[in-house]
Amino acid sequence: ANPDTLDIFKALDAAATFFQRQLATSERARAYLDQRGVGEAVRAQFAIGYAPDGFSALKDALGTDARRMNLLERAGLFSKNDRGHVYDKFRDRVMFPIHDRRGRVIAFGGRVLAAPADGRDAGPKYLNSPETALFHKGRELYGLWQVRQANPRIERLVVVEGYMDVVALFEHGVTVAVATLGTATTPDHAELLFRNAPDVYFCFDGDRAGRNAAWKAVESVLPRMRDGRQGFFLFLPEGEDPDSIVRKEGAEGFEARLREATPLSRFFFDTLSDGIALSTLDGKARLAERAKPLLAQIPDGAFGDLMQQRLTELTGVGARQAAPEPSAPIRRQ
Ligand code: UTP
Ligand code: MN
Ligand code: MN
Ligand code: MN
Ligand code: MN
Repeated sequence: ANPDTLDIFKALDAAATFFQRQLATSERARAYLDQRGVGEAVRAQFAIGYAPDGFSALKDALGTDARRMNLLERAGLFSKNDRGHVYDKFRDRVMFPIHDRRGRVIAFGGRVLAAPADGRDAGPKYLNSPETALFHKGRELYGLWQVRQANPRIERLVVVEGYMDVVALFEHGVTVAVATLGTATTPDHAELLFRNAPDVYFCFDGDRAGRNAAWKAVESVLPRMRDGRQGFFLFLPEGEDPDSIVRKEGAEGFEARLREATPLSRFFFDTLSDGIALSTLDGKARLAERAKPLLAQIPDGAFGDLMQQRLTELTGVGARQAAPEPSAPIRRQ
């Protein structure tokens, strides 16, 4: 990496340290984490911090000259108003540093504490760093570095939606959780997941958004389903997320749900058959029509063959060869 990039890493690291120190001095932020059940060990493991209220806490502490200001800006830590004035992007938020594969801080997610008493608009519940030279959110998984630190061998990964879901699962000893960062699972995520573990469980929130996210994950995962890789889907009751479930049911309850997760193959055909009468040939044709372009994306191998075979069982429509070229051109008189 060029020296400039190293300096941006240093600025991010200094900011993470600054936020951690602020957490140590903020009664209110610590009370929030207590109330969310995040203990000291997990706070340290994830380097969780606190960005104080006010527009220039970080800027005043670390932006002590023009060069440092420039690095902090390129690290994505400032916002700019229309008059070009630069101020702290993260204010009065619990800060979750996002680490890269090597454990370096590349970005942050910040969660609002309770709404301010004076009724100010606290903005969105979670705010993420913008895309920068170091941070491309479609390629990063929150928690992956911590998972790798915690497990000499990773047998499985559990993909969840949120920072708090990852942290709560670790708090309960389920140290295999990672989160996409407020985006859908991308094909890059799918490849990164399976490069780290043969079994990947997708466990999104029990709401419409979560179910849609699950299907989006299917679409991203299919082109990465080489033989030996397995995908599973875990559906939580309406209104629950992994954080709320593991708090209610403990690690044992969550593990029991993992054991009953739906295999990708079943979720695929159940979803595509939804609303289709498979007793009619019209319905069978519709299922075939929906499934074929997706199945075509599975890499060559047994999994793809078996999925095709399942489609044939359901519809009677087998893999069809491309129409043969006519042996001689048809002459028109
Ligand atoms: P959720 O709203 O389900 O978050 O959004 P959560 O982790 O369950 O939140 P709390 O703390 O328990 O209330 C899931 C994820 O979507 C992204 C964040 O990454 C969040 O963790 N998100 C959500 C945003 O980026 N911005 C938002 O305003 C909300
Ligand atoms: Mn880049
Ligand atoms: Mn949700
Ligand atoms: Mn949630
Ligand atoms: Mn939650």
